[in-house]
Amino acid sequence: MKIVVILPTYNEKENVEKLIPLLIEKIFPKVKNHQMHLLVVDDNSPDGTGAVVEEFMKKWKSIELLKGTKNGLGAAYVRGMHYAMESMKADAVMEFDADFQHDPEDIPHLIHAMDEGADYVIGSRYVKGGGIPKEWGIHRKIISRFGGLFAQVMLMRFDVHDMTSGYKLTKTSFLKNVDLDHLFSKYYAYKLHILHDILKQKAKVSEVPIIFYERKEGSSKITRKDLFDSFWVVIRLRIQDSQKFLKFLVVGGFGFIINAIILKILSDNYNWNHSSANLVGAGVAIFSNYNFNNIWTFNEQKVSRISSYLWKLLQFYATSAFGVIFIQTGTIWIGDHLIGAGVLHIGPLAIKYYLIYFVLGTGLLLIWNFFIYSKLIWKKKKIEK
Ligand code: GDD
Ligand code: MN
Repeated sequence: MKIVVILPTYNEKENVEKLIPLLIEKIFPKVKNHQMHLLVVDDNSPDGTGAVVEEFMKKWKSIELLKGTKNGLGAAYVRGMHYAMESMKADAVMEFDADFQHDPEDIPHLIHAMDEGADYVIGSRYVKGGGIPKEWGIHRKIISRFGGLFAQVMLMRFDVHDMTSGYKLTKTSFLKNVDLDHLFSKYYAYKLHILHDILKQKAKVSEVPIIFYERKEGSSKITRKDLFDSFWVVIRLRIQDSQKFLKFLVVGGFGFIINAIILKILSDNYNWNHSSANLVGAGVAIFSNYNFNNIWTFNEQKVSRISSYLWKLLQFYATSAFGVIFIQTGTIWIGDHLIGAGVLHIGPLAIKYYLIYFVLGTGLLLIWNFFIYSKLIWKKKKIEK
């Protein structure tokens, strides 16, 4: 594999003077089975970091320098990643800080995890063997842990312990499917968006313990704004992921209204018996749900060929009926038989138990329907790797 270590720098002169020779002479030679390259992304640092790198480039051919204007850490990484993938033809890229807070000695460990089969390796502070600076005050520790927990909950990934680490190794076969030019942040939170988009592709993740050291030279460029930016990015990712489900609820709610109106008109104006009236109402509602889900909720997987349209419609009726009979009605039946009838008093409210079974059954029905729609009827095609 060709591995490109991307090193973003802004005023890191003292650090790169030591770091680059260390990487080229000591660390990279330890990796025997891959070609190692270094790509420095410097935003015209006023302290002359770029000139130092250019001096080293005369001596070592495996270094490249990408210059640009300062637009945020995420923007710098995006430029670097495009360059590494398109011009350098990298098979994997590493995100690595230039300030010695990331221990260069861990680089071979991350690569080893990829050799063992991982597609996405996270240098993790929050697994056994990992750690954060002892010097960090209690409130900095709490912010880091709470922020990570918030991201874990919102993105529903409890198997990933360090969501905000800046030490990563990513296969470009996964990274190339990420829309780098439309990330929700150009700053530090870029990494949460990329993490989310890589996890979405079912990449095999491995966390390698790292100790995150205190900075010795220069200063951190992270600000309080980045904290809020990170929360906001996570919230936007959550909304984006829930959009399908919200549309599905709107379509279902509309179907429910159609069902109720038909039931009422046929019963009151045409004297139908209620069961037949409801059967017609539900039948029409299901037809409406199918079409709106097809053109709106799952429009990316829309079926339009007449034969598959009819076949999927049949599946839709069958799975909907299964859900109503076995899951929704079944829950009420189980509730009646296992717990029985009764009344729940909450303050002035008196709720009959069967209504609770109904609400529970309907909740399960929604989950069932959503599952079947996304996994069977409007199943996503596999993205090629
Ligand atoms: N080119 C460029 N442009 N580089 C930048 C910029 C920028 O706008 N901002 C920061 N960098 C470079 C720094 O020079 C350094 O090499 C690296 O990015 C990390 O920046 P720091 O400012 O030292 O970040 P930090 O130590 O506060 O944050 C680190 O730890 C966090 C976890 O606590 C980073 O690794 C974060 O990614 C990580 O989330
Ligand atoms: Mn740092």
